[in-house]
Amino acid sequence: GDGGRLAGRHVLVTAGPTHEPIDPVRYIANRSSGKQGYAIAAALARLGARVTLVSGPVALPTPSGVTRVDIETAQDMANAVAAALPADAAVMVAAVGDWRAETAGQKIKKGDAPPTLALSENPDILALLARSPHRPRLVIGFAAETEHVVDHATAKRTRKGADWIVANDVSGDVMGGPDNSIHLITANGVESWERMPKEAVAQRLAERIADAL
Ligand code: C5P
Repeated sequence: GDGGRLAGRHVLVTAGPTHEPIDPVRYIANRSSGKQGYAIAAALARLGARVTLVSGPVALPTPSGVTRVDIETAQDMANAVAAALPADAAVMVAAVGDWRAETAGQKIKKGDAPPTLALSENPDILALLARSPHRPRLVIGFAAETEHVVDHATAKRTRKGADWIVANDVSGDVMGGPDNSIHLITANGVESWERMPKEAVAQRLAERIADAL
């Protein structure tokens, strides 16, 4: 066959949470099942793209035709993203931990008072990629918001230097569930999609990526 609409294109996808270790047995993480990111990677591969999926720890099988790179921390994810370049497009779906703790080499023992965690900021992988000399032609970010979804996501598009933001209303039961309710924010404005299964969001987004490339 012709190999699909995205044949010859390389698309980078990040998905899942990151785990930021506190000590050998504890970590800080975001809530993320990885379902939406994995569905997007699968849909892009079905359209013939070469897909690199940089994934935090999730309980999902690797979609067929996708090259998966497993990472734990945000710093690992930043390194894996840089190593996967160049790419024609990047879809940053991961719920990256904003902060990391200083990691203790041994398990912290329970004492009289709970320990204080000294946190430092993690790299913003999306913002760095959008401003890098190796910037993919199309950079797409996600925004999980619980209120003022479109306003916050529109500001995020500019702040991060992304071309598109997929804004996700997570005020309901979207987290870990089968459906998603999104607004696609581009330079031309906002498109609100009806609530649909995450696979359908993925399919429609992959088609839009193919249109844009
Ligand atoms: O700022 P916020 O975390 O809401 O932005 C979400 C978007 O930025 C998502 O696309 C996410 O994958 C990306 N992000 C990132 N690196 C971070 C934080 C967020 O790539 N450290």
